[in-house]
Amino acid sequence: MTLDLPLTMIVVAAGSGQRFGGPRPKQYLDLAGRPVVFHTLHSFHEHPNIKAILPVIAADGHELWHHCLDPHLSELPRVLSPVTGGATRQESVWRGLSALDLPADAWVGIHDAARPFPGKKLLERLLEARNENMALIAALPASDTVKRVDPQRNIILETLNRSHLWLAQTPQLFHHGPILQLHQRARAAGFEATDDASLAEWGGLEVRVVPGDPRNIKITHPRDLELARQWLQEELP
Ligand code: CTP
Ligand code: MG
Repeated sequence: MTLDLPLTMIVVAAGSGQRFGGPRPKQYLDLAGRPVVFHTLHSFHEHPNIKAILPVIAADGHELWHHCLDPHLSELPRVLSPVTGGATRQESVWRGLSALDLPADAWVGIHDAARPFPGKKLLERLLEARNENMALIAALPASDTVKRVDPQRNIILETLNRSHLWLAQTPQLFHHGPILQLHQRARAAGFEATDDASLAEWGGLEVRVVPGDPRNIKITHPRDLELARQWLQEELP
């Protein structure tokens, strides 16, 4: 039963939130009395098959991490001590993968700290789908019509076939050996991507999409945090 296979989750939290703005990176902002990243870690902590969760934080973020998370870490005993990330998301993931001493065929998940609601059902869909796949990611089928646009002139070049388009989310799940190797190859080749599935595609590894969760939003702009706050408020008794 694949649901029983253990999984180690890397949560990348080393970004500075340029698009969000403000003095404190978005993953440390308050969301219903807890830092955003607490909600992220807690969602994984709920699942018995996620054996360990490794946070990756900014080199200059250790103090902030301890300030924000230490009061809550007793609720999260499976969260490991954070490791230091790098200047890009890809570098942060690579550092997280390198810090894990796992067999090549052990499953690892990679998730953005800025997505506080991965959702229990989505996690189960991903864990279940490990059965037949080497690599899989959460993604949502595009619901809007998508245009390719000339970036200089804002003129539409083409309308893409929506039925083939999915919007990538995290978690993204891989075997530890192959994804670490792909990261090493990408570093050597200077290939940069905004998610880990792109590295797998680049390296010729088949990646399956699993229907994501519309609530699994990435907090990117202040309006996203407002929405997350509203959702939690609606759920309060
Ligand atoms: N991330 C990271 N290391 C980096 C950059 C990003 O660990 N050098 C993490 C972020 O903390 C976030 C996730 O990758 O949890 C997704 O990235 P994004 O939403 O782009 O966050 P930021 O890079 O912080 O935001 P921005 O791009 O607006 O600066
Ligand atoms: Mg970024």
